[in-house]
Amino acid sequence: MKTIIKIFSVFLLFFTTSCSNDITELTSPDGKISLSFALLDGKPIYTVNYQNKCIIDTSSLGFQLKDMKALDGNFELERSSHANFSEIWKPLWGESSEITNKYCELLLELVQKDDQQRKLNIRFRVFDDGIGFRYEFPAQENLKDFVITDELSEFKLKGDHNCWWIPADYDSYEYSYNSTKLSEIDSREYNYYQSGDRHIMNPKAVNTPITMQTADNLFLSIHEAALIDYADMTLEVKENNTLKADLCPWPDGSKVHASAPFNSPWRTVLITKTPGELVTSNLILNLNEPTKLNDVSWIEPMKYIGIWWEMHIGKSSWGRGKVQGSWSGLERTTHGATTENTKKYIDFASASGIKGVLIEGWNTGWEYWGVDTTGFFDFITPYDDFDIYEVVRYAKEKGVEIVGHHETAGDVENYDKRLEAAFAFYNKIGIRAVKTGYAGPIRPVGYFHHSQYMVRHYHRVVETAAKYKIMIDAHEPIKDTGERRTFPNFMTREGVRGTEYEAWSEGNSPEHTTILPFTRGLAGPIDYTPGIFDLTFDKYKKTERVHTTLAKQLALYVTLYSPLNMAADLPENYKGNLAFEFIKEVPVTWDETKVLDAKIGDYIITARRLGDEWYIGAITDENEFTSSISLDFLNPELRYNAKIFSDGDDVNYDTNPTSIKIEQKEVIGKDRIHIKLAVSGGTGLIYLPFYFTIPIFSESHRNKFCGNL
Ligand code: NOJ
Ligand code: CA
Repeated sequence: MKTIIKIFSVFLLFFTTSCSNDITELTSPDGKISLSFALLDGKPIYTVNYQNKCIIDTSSLGFQLKDMKALDGNFELERSSHANFSEIWKPLWGESSEITNKYCELLLELVQKDDQQRKLNIRFRVFDDGIGFRYEFPAQENLKDFVITDELSEFKLKGDHNCWWIPADYDSYEYSYNSTKLSEIDSREYNYYQSGDRHIMNPKAVNTPITMQTADNLFLSIHEAALIDYADMTLEVKENNTLKADLCPWPDGSKVHASAPFNSPWRTVLITKTPGELVTSNLILNLNEPTKLNDVSWIEPMKYIGIWWEMHIGKSSWGRGKVQGSWSGLERTTHGATTENTKKYIDFASASGIKGVLIEGWNTGWEYWGVDTTGFFDFITPYDDFDIYEVVRYAKEKGVEIVGHHETAGDVENYDKRLEAAFAFYNKIGIRAVKTGYAGPIRPVGYFHHSQYMVRHYHRVVETAAKYKIMIDAHEPIKDTGERRTFPNFMTREGVRGTEYEAWSEGNSPEHTTILPFTRGLAGPIDYTPGIFDLTFDKYKKTERVHTTLAKQLALYVTLYSPLNMAADLPENYKGNLAFEFIKEVPVTWDETKVLDAKIGDYIITARRLGDEWYIGAITDENEFTSSISLDFLNPELRYNAKIFSDGDDVNYDTNPTSIKIEQKEVIGKDRIHIKLAVSGGTGLIYLPFYFTIPIFSESHRNKFCGNL
């Protein structure tokens, strides 16, 4: 494979008025994607082609700076250099055990043609499934400390593509996805508000990843990689199908505070022929740096249950004692995180081989929960009915890990002050996983969850956690941009409208989880918290419910990925239910992932392998779906025992969602398997090679749950 610099006469047509254009081209290792860079009258621009079709037309690059001349033009190319790179690296955990990182690179070193001679470098990488570029500000005399007031990066798309998008909320990604033409993106049509912990300031902008399907059936997704010390990039819809970077601001309206040498995050565009190839792309991970952690022995993916859903459905509460502050007067149910209740969860986890138990509401401060009450969490003091030492001792005796909880309520100043002591405390008592939360407007007032201030905070938390050998699951986080390669203890995040919405809102639509793998899922692992078996929980709430069948809840363990993955329901709803076998068995890290078939927003069938075992998850939206799946991915030398957990014949997600059919059959790679998914239904399949098979279905279970066995 060779990269080339050449002048295209066809490209020159763009620049009829230019005086001195430097045009540079870069192609992907397989030659299908090509990228051109040029200076158009001194202004940096680029284009991207896929198999000679224009994907991104002439688009601008550069910056506006505070109290300084812009870095948007008057450039000349001082130097350009190419490099080819190829490696295979092994992530500690994830969707596959080996990742190929192969790209062609072009570095443009630009200098402004005036007396200040300020420098700006742009580094492009072209992979077989997309492109990435970032800005590099080298150390220099006339650009030391600077403030970015606008990033000028554009993505001028060649068509009014179909898009799956959420609004450019500066505080939250917890939205249902919308599907419209690019030109029709407008958040005023739904969920438009600017208060508390939601701020949609520009209704014509979206958060990333935004995913698109072109008229000739290419799939594109724009996002970023390695967002470490910068503001979240949202994308504003401009004229001519153009998306322009629109960065989340500091309170004074500035966007990024930096000192050279400084690199921006990578701006990424995935370009694939199928939606499945978006899901299996590693481009974003590959644009992050390898980890510098030497000892990673304490990082371990696991499933967990927790004192969590019971608060969301109103069975118990996070706080203990009288409600204080602005919400005083509210009735409180019984406190959930007691020593006694936690031991019940630990017993259940231990008996069913689930490694972790999350405990929310264990520490004082929840009695002050409310928007005007801050600073009451110290993350160290347990309530008087919760003996943390006894709980940790008991868990250890039972072979279970405690997953700690730090809910900050958005009061970041308070958390920052207490961070070190809080992690040191957990480390001392033997807790190595912590769920963090930022539910509330960020304090200090005026800061947004997705601003550079908070991006720095989230990374400070992960680095401090690593120091104390603690894994992080962040809720209300900054979006994932593949940092798990560098910080493999940053396991998972929320940043999604997850199962909790089914407990206290109109819930999530049947199509929601058929969109997530191709949008939010492209960013990184999702703590979606699946696995609800009592789908209507009428005992606690009459109007709210989960909008799927039970089999679909199982399939989500395969179609969505998280290395810390919750079995979210109450233990009493799992006990004695044979469907729980699927959750017990399903792994949290994989050797291989394939998307067998998918249509964004309609259905997805995902297959994942660990060792010789394969798991398949298939889900559908508000329409039934049938398919015949070839099993040619199975090892042709093995015979397998397939365990199939599918929608029962009389299932109806509205009136009879828990009907499930569990079957076993012998299969080989030449077979096909027929799946039939009911409305908002699913199927979970396990293929165990015969030498692994242990009969898990006792006679009594067969009679009780599996009429069709
Ligand atoms: C919102 C989180 O998403 C949820 O998981 C958690 O239970 C509550 N905040 C309380 O911390
Ligand atoms: Ca949340």
